[in-house]
Amino acid sequence: MNKTFTLTIDGQSVDAPQDSTIQQVLESINKPAPLICAHEATTPEGLCRQCVVEVEGWRVLAPSCVTKINEGMVIHTASERVIRSRRTILEMLNASVDLSEAPELQAQMDEFGADRERFPHAKTREQDVKDDNPFFVRDYEKCLMCWRCVQACGDDIQYTYSISVGGRGFESKISTFFDSPMPETSCVFCGNCVAVCPTNALKSKTEFFMEQGLDYDEIRQEKRAEKKKMGGGK
Ligand code: SF4
Ligand code: FES
Repeated sequence: MNKTFTLTIDGQSVDAPQDSTIQQVLESINKPAPLICAHEATTPEGLCRQCVVEVEGWRVLAPSCVTKINEGMVIHTASERVIRSRRTILEMLNASVDLSEAPELQAQMDEFGADRERFPHAKTREQDVKDDNPFFVRDYEKCLMCWRCVQACGDDIQYTYSISVGGRGFESKISTFFDSPMPETSCVFCGNCVAVCPTNALKSKTEFFMEQGLDYDEIRQEKRAEKKKMGGGK
């Protein structure tokens, strides 16, 4: 039988199925926590910690996307500690990653009062744009390592496993095996990675060309030439 737990969220008593995550309960009462690494199409991994809430009696804040509820939990979603944590995460991300094309992240920075200049001397993730196929470009200066693309390419959607994580620590990055160009990997260019990317680090070639001022015919010609090159190069 599907049991329910009763918990208290910001003073409100809520009943929910016992196998729910905190985020699922928050969504059911129209109070979803802000997400970065979690996405409806991928499995939550609890990587970014932006969805944290305060649970009374717990030493650390709980990531709501991966934390299961318990009977009698008392949860605060907007305590000073929660807000400060979310704001700091955004400020640190913004200091090292180009979030200029991440509207959801920009909205979160406004909502939590993030200081966009807080860490002016932070090391940034500078690197060249990877433009090696007719379908999408990869601009990893904009990558905040949320893993959504890796999950979409793997077990969550496509089962292609073309992209993974390479390097260590600050130098870790999303990459292909041996950093090979995309056409030399198992990639089938399904576009699922592009669809789940929150920052435009992965961008369709059409959008990329449009930003450069190319019109429809020019884009078609460019893509046709690139496809020909890719086919001939294999
Ligand atoms: S490329 Fe996009 S989806 Fe992939 S880890 Fe980076 S930000 Fe996330
Ligand atoms: S959204 Fe929950 S940890 Fe990233």
